[in-house]
Amino acid sequence: MTEAAKLTLSGQDHDYPVLSGSVGPDVVDIRKLYGQTGAFTYDPGFTSTASCQSKLTYIDGDEGVLLHRGYPIGELAEQSSFMEVCYLLLNGELPTADELEKFSWTISRHTMVHEQLAQFFRGFRRDAHPMAIMCGVVGALSAFYHDSTDIHDPQQRMIASHRLIAKMPTIAAMAYKYSVGQPFLYPDNSLSYTGNFLRMTFGVPAEQYEVNPAVEKAMDRIFILHADHEQNASTSTVRLAGSSGANPFACIAAGIACLWGPAHGGANEAALNMLHEIGTPERIPEFIARAKDKNDPFRLMGFGHRVYKNYDPRATVMQKTVREVFAALNVQDPLFETALRLEEIALSDDYFVEKKLFPNVDFYSGVILSAIGFPTSMFTVLFALARTVGWVAQWNEMITDPDQKIGRPRQLYTGPTQRAYVPVGQR
Ligand code: ACO
Repeated sequence: MTEAAKLTLSGQDHDYPVLSGSVGPDVVDIRKLYGQTGAFTYDPGFTSTASCQSKLTYIDGDEGVLLHRGYPIGELAEQSSFMEVCYLLLNGELPTADELEKFSWTISRHTMVHEQLAQFFRGFRRDAHPMAIMCGVVGALSAFYHDSTDIHDPQQRMIASHRLIAKMPTIAAMAYKYSVGQPFLYPDNSLSYTGNFLRMTFGVPAEQYEVNPAVEKAMDRIFILHADHEQNASTSTVRLAGSSGANPFACIAAGIACLWGPAHGGANEAALNMLHEIGTPERIPEFIARAKDKNDPFRLMGFGHRVYKNYDPRATVMQKTVREVFAALNVQDPLFETALRLEEIALSDDYFVEKKLFPNVDFYSGVILSAIGFPTSMFTVLFALARTVGWVAQWNEMITDPDQKIGRPRQLYTGPTQRAYVPVGQR
């Protein structure tokens, strides 16, 4: 056991236990701090605070490591499937062949949404951002599935989790169809989870839709890369919302709202826009100079990460996937050449080397997604679709954690001290 941490406050010494996880930094257990000293800790952005214990995902940002239930993301992306990763995240172990088949079958039984849910879409303007639609419609699920909302019943929690994973592709495809004025397509459960999503998104009732196996594989891999990422902002939002015992569908809608922001799920859209702005490799030095200029707010989008101070392992897989998708679709995108050259130049520049700024998952994902045919406004929706399994797995873990309490951070108050009310006529 690691020695206790010592804190001296107002001349008094206090000892706090130091807890060790299975791997990663130790944490100082300060749960008794307020009771013993009357003081809080101050940590905006939670940069030094572990808000929970978790067995799901481990990240070592210095080494560029990402593990789900112990399995490296590179191995999962290469050898596994999104359905298998969903099972792994939810249940803790990789499934046997029978378990995987049963799980995939169960998910496919929940792909349809209540017919009345389609009415919700019609209430949105045609030019609504699909993330606005996702927030609204996923939140509305809480008004439909009353038989799976007893959060203390493990069976009901699992049904709610399956429903969310299964219905998210249907809702995401409907959001897209609504924006382009095409009819919604019902799910086809003879297809894979990802093939079904591609068909509901790009198919039309007038024609047979053939799922391109290379695109299906690439999309499935992109879903794997986004499945979970420990206590990021949207996951922490889901946990915080769920900590009050709130309806699970409403909690996931809260996660979608948080993910929408450009500092989180919206960065892939920004990275692609930046590549468009740069255009050709000749203009790269100009943009590198701008990124380094302290007086210019411009940053290389898709570069740098709060946790990774090394190559984001998901970016490695993304870069490889771009080549596979381009080969399968027989397309060439000069923006990919620009991206490769930009990465090469940045990684040999002292500024980026010293600050440990490497490409993150968003650097290449936009190039692939637009090659597949998604408009940029759908990029964050795809992230939300894939991250839903992480959100529900973390939510389930939180509810079964004996240490779980309603999330209630404290504050450092800097406002006025008590003063007497002055009637309006005397001000
Ligand atoms: N381009 C140029 N300089 C950068 C970049 C960048 N992309 N990222 C960080 N820096 C510099 C900062 O100017 C700062 O320099 P300074 O120390 O001289 O002031 C230093 O590197 C550290 O940057 P911070 O912003 O303090 O680091 P933080 O960990 O808070 O930010 C973040 C991480 C937000 C991801 C940042 O790197 C960034 O803005 N990147 C571009 C946006 C992006 O790609 N976001 C996607 C993240 S992945 C995801 O959410 C799925």
